[in-house]
Amino acid sequence: MTSVGIDAIEIWTGNLTLDLPGTFAPEKGEDPEKYTKGLGLHASSFPDTYEDIVTMAANASLRLMERKDLEPEDVGRIDVATESAFDNSKPVSTYVAGCLEEVYGSDFHHANKGERKFACIAGTQSLNDAYNWIASGRNRGRKALVIATDTALYARGDAGEATQGAGAVTMLVDEDPDLVEFSAEQGYGSADETDFLKPNQQFPSVDGKRSVQVYLARMREAMEDFEAAGGDTHPDNFAYIPFHTPFPGMVRKAAALGYRHALRGTDIESDLADEIGRQPRPEAFDDQEEYLEAIKEYTDALTETDHYRDWYARTVDPTLDVSREVGNWYTASVHLARASALRSALDAGTDLTGERLLVGSYGSGAQAEIHAETVQPGWRDEIHQLNVEEQLEERYDLSWDEYEQVHDAHNHDVDSDVESFTTPSGEFVFDGWGRMGERQYRYVE
Ligand code: COA
Repeated sequence: MTSVGIDAIEIWTGNLTLDLPGTFAPEKGEDPEKYTKGLGLHASSFPDTYEDIVTMAANASLRLMERKDLEPEDVGRIDVATESAFDNSKPVSTYVAGCLEEVYGSDFHHANKGERKFACIAGTQSLNDAYNWIASGRNRGRKALVIATDTALYARGDAGEATQGAGAVTMLVDEDPDLVEFSAEQGYGSADETDFLKPNQQFPSVDGKRSVQVYLARMREAMEDFEAAGGDTHPDNFAYIPFHTPFPGMVRKAAALGYRHALRGTDIESDLADEIGRQPRPEAFDDQEEYLEAIKEYTDALTETDHYRDWYARTVDPTLDVSREVGNWYTASVHLARASALRSALDAGTDLTGERLLVGSYGSGAQAEIHAETVQPGWRDEIHQLNVEEQLEERYDLSWDEYEQVHDAHNHDVDSDVESFTTPSGEFVFDGWGRMGERQYRYVE
């Protein structure tokens, strides 16, 4: 079977940032540690007035195409995953292709373009579509650009306001990839849920507490399905476990649940039995409530053990480094988590070739997916090319008043004429409206 996976990845953050403990917390009258320790976030990234889902997607894609020396005719597919689309008919991928064509002077007329929607899991679904297109042999040697791009803004005053973010991740999917190869095994957990939705509205309606519970329930189902498909979930068999990261505190909960589930019946459970006992089994309880209480107590005790803490610090924490500084990027979040982990391994001088990742994606509404990936020999050269640190450092740090202006500038219901805070250079910018209400773009040298 052909080896298919991610050949290269590029990241583009919004050019503005909001300091959560320093600027947001005092205005909200909250303890800064609610954000840094509770949610696990230090800052959010925001789009400047000339940025949107198209500019960020096109900027990440141009960087990727230039450094991989690709021409438009090498690309047979452009899929965009987003939950921030501004058009119910014309897909974002057509706008992105239009931007790239302006720079290349040649076209993507033979590339299949589309847009995927299923909340934050759509990026992973698009990867899957590209995988299937290539594995079926219909790609004729061409590659797929899979782009996850979002401006994750909430209504002012919504509990989700602290978790906002904006950015794009472009991934090149190809045969014999340089970065990671996908496993054939996959697991799904999917149910009709009402936890987060945008019924033809810009900002989401969110039941935040419920969305946390739905995330955990669907992730657990996906894990069981992955195991049923023959997938291995032993926690020690993975170098990193990138999860969808709406905020790092969510991943802390998901990791504890996943670890507890996966260690059941393993040598680790036996080794820990003297310290915290064995996991409660449902058949030992007449009452479901009592079982749930017992399993919660066991999970809490487990997360306090040195064994768990070491595992978490090694396998999960490095996936959160970038997310802590940018907030939620919706469809791109899990892909940022993967990149963050690989970047951390590069910095630590770890050799990851042949090591495996277990990737847990989630989208509200709701669906989770789990698959494994194997790190390829070219990973170091690929990750070395990322300039995410520079991008994060160069962001303009917003004051509270400026944050309010930027939020208004991106609010479709507010008339705003605020000036940009940064000066674009070597990037695509939003350039006003066309005669049919379409958004227009241009490249600024
Ligand atoms: N020091 C340390 N931790 C603190 C703290 C402090 N001073 N104050 C609060 N915390 C902790 C809380 O205990 C909680 O942690 P826990 O869940 O482990 O108990 C965490 O910080 C968040 O506090 P909480 O009061 O629950 O925050 P909130 O009600 O304002 O909002 C969400 C939390 C997730 C509901 C909100 O951010 C949201 O709606 N987000 C959007 C939806 C989302 O991202 N869902 C995730 C699934 S996709």
